[in-house]
Amino acid sequence: MTRSSDLSGFYRKSIAERREVAREWAGLTDEEVRAWEFPPGVDPATIDRMIENVIGVMPLPLGLATHFRINDKDYLVPMAIEEPSVVAAASNAAKVARSAGGFHAQSTDPVMIGQVQIMDVHDPAAARLRILHARTELLAAANAKDPVLVKFGGGAKELEVRILPSPRGTMVIVHLLVDARDAGGMNAVNTMCEALAPELARLAGGRSVLRIISNLAIHRLARARATFPAEQLKTETMTGAEVVDGILDAYAFAVADPFRCATHNKGIMNGISSVVVATGNDFRAIESGAHTFAAWQAAPTGAVIRPLTTYEKDRDGNLVGTIEFPAPVGLIGGATAVHPTAKANVKLLGVSSARELGEVLASVGLAQNFSALRALATEGIQRGHMELHARNMAVSAGARPDEVDRVVARLVAERAVRFDRAKAVLEELRAGR
Ligand code: MEV
Repeated sequence: MTRSSDLSGFYRKSIAERREVAREWAGLTDEEVRAWEFPPGVDPATIDRMIENVIGVMPLPLGLATHFRINDKDYLVPMAIEEPSVVAAASNAAKVARSAGGFHAQSTDPVMIGQVQIMDVHDPAAARLRILHARTELLAAANAKDPVLVKFGGGAKELEVRILPSPRGTMVIVHLLVDARDAGGMNAVNTMCEALAPELARLAGGRSVLRIISNLAIHRLARARATFPAEQLKTETMTGAEVVDGILDAYAFAVADPFRCATHNKGIMNGISSVVVATGNDFRAIESGAHTFAAWQAAPTGAVIRPLTTYEKDRDGNLVGTIEFPAPVGLIGGATAVHPTAKANVKLLGVSSARELGEVLASVGLAQNFSALRALATEGIQRGHMELHARNMAVSAGARPDEVDRVVARLVAERAVRFDRAKAVLEELRAGR
């Protein structure tokens, strides 16, 4: 009989029952099914309420980046990521930046954009003015939907109206600017947009279609800058000044070429996303916002995309890096406030506002990018990666903790970091060869 994925009512089953269904479906062993288990300290009922059809958890390695000093405050930064080298690279960069005062970070007010799309408007220019005319009443109606947010100084602050040509005719797009304070803002903004849509459609003389937050959060930016002293960058074969120039060459490559820029920005997101994940925030929102922001900023220059960071040389020949991107992260309202691991991580990080979390993200993103460019401009990325990769190979080949280091040393010395070689080396070691 062919298997059917038509499992109506699956959501009504208990976690144990769902696991049993999944187990039979794939013919999994008891040991394989145990990989879905909840670790101590993670309550299955909490996880079961977070998403649908839960069968377990997917643990990612959680590491701590050290040496971070941001606005004269020290941080240990939790990073959840599967990729080797990222945590070490962030920590190394933070150490270099620290020697010149650390990261200087800042952020705008946490203002999100909600969009209401209105179609079939006969007189879009006049409709725009009719809506702007009703600004005070519209903002009040939006704020009536979230008195708590208003009490904390947030809420709907401004209205903008755009006239947008499209393949389906001219649209009137209303942007509702909402200060989300310490929340991500998704719920507050969407609720306000849905509440305003009928009145906006009436004022415009059209019909409203989408009412949803925008991830291009250009009014909720986080920024950081740091100096990386040339003196600290020298290697066995390169002077500090040469390394600074190499990093500037690497940066210029990303400015000039979208193929390189995609990888440059990916390295930045290695840092940002792993902190976003560790704190239970929406990493897709940050990724989408960051990449679209980079494209949006590039557009006036005729480029397709631009790096989220910049690099310059200061008058003393030191490298100065900056970063700026949308940081719609929250501390309340989302998974951050529910997921036990995220809660512990936020407490460990010691941030007291969503803005401060954004500033940490900016600093980690800059640190990550600096480390990648430094490695690429000097010894190349593979040497650093190789040892960690070899470690993974050794473990998957079955090396015990007391054997791992010896297997790694041999794989790296042979420059042969492959699974088949790891297995062979392990056998050789065990045979005393
Ligand atoms: C790998 O995950 C990230 C890098 O490729 C970033 C970069 O090339 O700048 C090392």
